[in-house]
Amino acid sequence: MSAAGRRWGRRQRALLWAVLLAAWEAAWGQLRYSVPEEMPKGSFVGDVAKDLGLQLPELRERDAHVFDTGRRRYFFLDLGNGHLSMMEQADREQICAAASKRVLNFEILVKRPMNIYKGEVEILDINDNSPSFPERSSVLEISEYTAPGTRFPLQKAHDPDIGLNSLQNYECSESNYFTLEVKNGDDGVKYPELILVKSLDREQQTAHNLILTATDNGSPVKSGSTMIQIIVLDGNDNAPEFTQSVYKVTVREDVAVGSRVLQVTAIDRDEGPNAEVKYWFFKIPEKFEKTFKLNPKSGEIEVTQNLNFEEREFYELVVQARDTGGLSSHSKVLIKVVDVNNYIPEIIIMSVFSPVPEDTPLGTVIAIFSVQDRDSGANGEVQCSISESHPFRLEKSFDNYYSVVTTELLDREQVSEYNVTVRAADGGSPPLQSSAVLALRVLDVNDNAPVFAQERYSARLAENNAAGALVLTVRASDEATRW
Ligand SMILES: *[C@@H]1O[C@H](CO)[C@@H](O)[C@H](O)[C@H]1NC(C)=O
Repeated sequence: MSAAGRRWGRRQRALLWAVLLAAWEAAWGQLRYSVPEEMPKGSFVGDVAKDLGLQLPELRERDAHVFDTGRRRYFFLDLGNGHLSMMEQADREQICAAASKRVLNFEILVKRPMNIYKGEVEILDINDNSPSFPERSSVLEISEYTAPGTRFPLQKAHDPDIGLNSLQNYECSESNYFTLEVKNGDDGVKYPELILVKSLDREQQTAHNLILTATDNGSPVKSGSTMIQIIVLDGNDNAPEFTQSVYKVTVREDVAVGSRVLQVTAIDRDEGPNAEVKYWFFKIPEKFEKTFKLNPKSGEIEVTQNLNFEEREFYELVVQARDTGGLSSHSKVLIKVVDVNNYIPEIIIMSVFSPVPEDTPLGTVIAIFSVQDRDSGANGEVQCSISESHPFRLEKSFDNYYSVVTTELLDREQVSEYNVTVRAADGGSPPLQSSAVLALRVLDVNDNAPVFAQERYSARLAENNAAGALVLTVRASDEATRW
């Protein structure tokens, strides 16, 4: 081929690459679907083929794949009909127990040319849970000398649904002595409190029964109730009093199990056994009881389980101090958890285009990867880099996606393979790091003409030689080698 002809061939190929490149750049799209929670396995989520404008054979030929961004796989892509479906039943309360997010993210990767599409599936809440109380009935002992206006925190109900489907209100049965007040806590949770409005008289009535009902606002409304029995104590002593109405403390999520986080104290002005105070958690959720222990004698609260900021940032506990005479009072303990940089950034290689043809034009995408870090804030912000000595550059595509593109023409005869190291470091102090290697081979393109070993060959032949006899051997070599 003449020199001019060869250049033309390269230009045509470069043009083709440029077209593919443009397609790649245009293809960062977003798909959005929503499904009600608890749809059974195999339920239809969305028609991916239609929404991406891809024909069915194309999906298959281009090796379409779905990736779940989370740790569990919820979706599969049926290449037969182009539908995205549920691989597993998704219970919103389970997915969202830790975070308040209600979307599952996925990516669809198609090759030749390489396109990546981001998608999210919103899991819609259905009112599948009733508010419920940890106990069906409870006893509250109150001295007959208790002053009107005194407040008694009640146990909270729990409803794992969200929005209107979640707990909206509390109501209490009629009483001449008590009213109910519903307070909004710092954490957005509603707290029922009973207020004494009229002095109790043990000689007149020794016990009062109330029914506390919690309701949501779903359609239909669901509710749950608990019975509260109030026993009026013969009042000749003082109830213990906490030194603070709220105790606040901040702990690192990596606090050692067994560490003391706080001490609560209540003082009883009585003398003798009536002044002996013991401490208890007051009807806190069972899982909190596994996380913290309250020493009944000293009032010290210690951690009995590893904390995890990513699962829970805030604990609100109610503590009760009770004297031997049965009188009690309550206080709140707010424990705030601070994030510690405990997850290393993860590099997820989504695709590597290896081998790379050696005449690949500058700026061609040769690999795609994403990074994830499960920490929060700066601890979860990841910076990426690649080794600089190679003819490649890192480009941030969107969010946490990166592509590696060529910055020079590759020449297989000079370097036939590259190991490109990708490094990821988070913004923690100190930062946590990880790395991955992209192994790239360079594909030979016939850009060298073969060269004969000799410029001129000559041979002597005897006449009348037999047909097929060897005349001469010629040799040529090519810088390019095949594999
Ligand atoms: C790349 O890594 C592989 C596996 O570790 C090794 O065999 C190969 O020699 C490396 N190539 C280069 C060019 O460093």
